[in-house]
Amino acid sequence: MTSKIEEILLRKKTQTQLLKNPRVLSEAYLPDKLLFREKEIEEIIDHAGDFMFGSIPKNLVIHGPPGTGKTAAMMMIKRVYNNVATKNNVDTRAIYISAKELTYHKVLYTLAINLNLNVNKGMSIGGIYDAILKHLKREGMRYLLIVDELDKIRRNTKMGDSPIDSLVYSLSRINERVQRIAVDLFLVTNNARLVERLSAPSLSSLTPIFIYFRSYNADELYEILKNRADLAFEEGAVDDAALKLLAALIKRESRDLRWGFLVLRTAASTAENGKITEGSIWRAAEIVERNVLKQVISGLDADGLILLLALAVLSEKRNHLIDSSTLYVKYKYLCDTLEWPPRTMKHVINYIGAKLESEGLVTRRPVSKGRYGRTQIFHLEENAFTVKNIVREVLAERFNLRPSLSSL
Ligand SMILES: Nc1ncnc2c1ncn2[C@@H]1O[C@H](COP(=O)(O)OP(=O)(O)OP(=O)(O)O)[C@@H](O)[C@H]1O
Ligand SMILES: [Mg+2]
Repeated sequence: MTSKIEEILLRKKTQTQLLKNPRVLSEAYLPDKLLFREKEIEEIIDHAGDFMFGSIPKNLVIHGPPGTGKTAAMMMIKRVYNNVATKNNVDTRAIYISAKELTYHKVLYTLAINLNLNVNKGMSIGGIYDAILKHLKREGMRYLLIVDELDKIRRNTKMGDSPIDSLVYSLSRINERVQRIAVDLFLVTNNARLVERLSAPSLSSLTPIFIYFRSYNADELYEILKNRADLAFEEGAVDDAALKLLAALIKRESRDLRWGFLVLRTAASTAENGKITEGSIWRAAEIVERNVLKQVISGLDADGLILLLALAVLSEKRNHLIDSSTLYVKYKYLCDTLEWPPRTMKHVINYIGAKLESEGLVTRRPVSKGRYGRTQIFHLEENAFTVKNIVREVLAERFNLRPSLSSL
């Protein structure tokens, strides 16, 4: 027993010795330099310079897949912009707002707070917008407004209209409303089509220039990972082959650098003899994947969990596509075992099935059964054994159902 405890403690010692600077692998870390992004950053800075020194507002839409350095680039640009403005006594300032999970109201509110306005959350959208306009009319300061994660803005279910459209419309009309050049907009999104789909009035007052952040190829990913690993780990702790493998996995599994950094961090605990090898990367990737999957599964309600368990159990045994009747029979059987009241077949197959599909856990496809009508074929998108075990864990944690579950 003592030796086991000692071993666990010592493992921590090796981990911390290996990973001397875990911060550089965290989300919050901003690198000094972004590799392979010089051209894009120069182009953005060029437009920012036009606004700073020439009062020429050029609205930009910066777009590209996840993890391609958009946020990091904007943070960097904001910092440099504000430093240069201060040093050269130019009355301009860059403001960064992430719209992620914020409503249209909350984005405007956050902007008002950034402008040091006396607003409160109880004020209406119109009230906050007017306060912003009034302020910008009065003072001479110009603002480079960076709105990140525009596509992740929260939809207000009560309002039928698109919050992105409303936001873009109101922000892009500020200059016209205050009758001076007061703002320049840099909008950041994964999806540029979102901007193309804006209503005609929003699009015409925005008239954006598009800047694309393409994804990195495997060699570039390797360079970025290597750069970061050199800062994070003890010298010589990470095998080159391990980093090459990680870069290849990011490409093959359509993951991004954020996932890569997480795997690297986790690899500190799967290292062998103080070294991160290809084996450590495989094991770390498995741990990270399992945690992500567990997070998604933990978000399901009881019926979703039971349906997923039914599909996992069936898939594990037969390993082929499962039709809705077979799936429903299994779901009902599990409900009986767990003493949980089952939902109707229509509800389970259509609504709960759709929920699992929207989470990316299953796919469904309608097939014809000739004169017997139509049915749906379900396919589990993740490893059945892993899903089964995770669902069991989640059910056990949530409903204290351990005894009855072990028999499944
Ligand atoms: N060229 C690069 N050089 C060094 N690090 C990079 C580079 N590109 C991205 N990163 C790092 O990868 C991580 C993800 O980048 P970032 O958050 O900027 O992506 P993003 O394009 O904003 O993604 P999303 O669309 O999901 O918001 C960050 O930790 C960032 O520092
Ligand atoms: Mg981002």
